[in-house]
Amino acid sequence: MIKAVIFDLDGVIVDTARYHFLAWKRLADELGIPFTEADNERLKGVSRMRSMEILMEIGGITLSAHDKEQLANKKNTWFVDYVERMLPEEIYPGVKKLIESLRQRGVRVALASSSKNAKTVIQLLHIQQLFEVVVDGTMIVHSKPDPEIFLLAANRLNIPPADCLVVEDAEAGVEAAHAAGMRCLGIGKREQLLKAEKVVAKTGDFTLAMLEEF
Ligand code: BG6
Ligand code: MG
Repeated sequence: MIKAVIFDLDGVIVDTARYHFLAWKRLADELGIPFTEADNERLKGVSRMRSMEILMEIGGITLSAHDKEQLANKKNTWFVDYVERMLPEEIYPGVKKLIESLRQRGVRVALASSSKNAKTVIQLLHIQQLFEVVVDGTMIVHSKPDPEIFLLAANRLNIPPADCLVVEDAEAGVEAAHAAGMRCLGIGKREQLLKAEKVVAKTGDFTLAMLEEF
């Protein structure tokens, strides 16, 4: 029986995954690194610094710790610029209703994002009140695919991990959910989320009836 649903944020609640991609792409262009949307799949769900390292791997370059930090900060400034221009209407269709109906049914709901900007994003969307628990990149040591963030969310909800379902658009997030002993609903394309128990194209396609399938 699923007693709690833990939602990822970027690419699950709102398309900020697109803004992360655009900001990394701009940095890659500046560094002369070829960087595609397929490459970007590897950056989804992981921390800012890990993303920076993956970008360096793709480009076959090495940088000092100082330069790495500066470039990651630059990417973040661009990302924050996009986010600050975001409108509350950009929340994916059906998401608010879905969360409200889960809660009406007595299912507990949390948000668990690797992003250090997660609180800003949910404030701008006016959706803080939808989640009983919010955990983000400022509260953990190890980012997804490590299970730390999901275990922290389950702990704050006081629900055993085995009774939690994670909703994720990133492969690193699916791995983190499984490492936490949770089941996972993937959002997006099956070929990018091979390990998820079930995949739907959009978060709004997730129905309460599907809870029985986990
Ligand atoms: C995750 C995104 O939610 O947060 C990643 O999927 C991003 O793409 C990570 O790198 C860290 O985000 P931030 O806002 O702390 O740089
Ligand atoms: Mg995501």
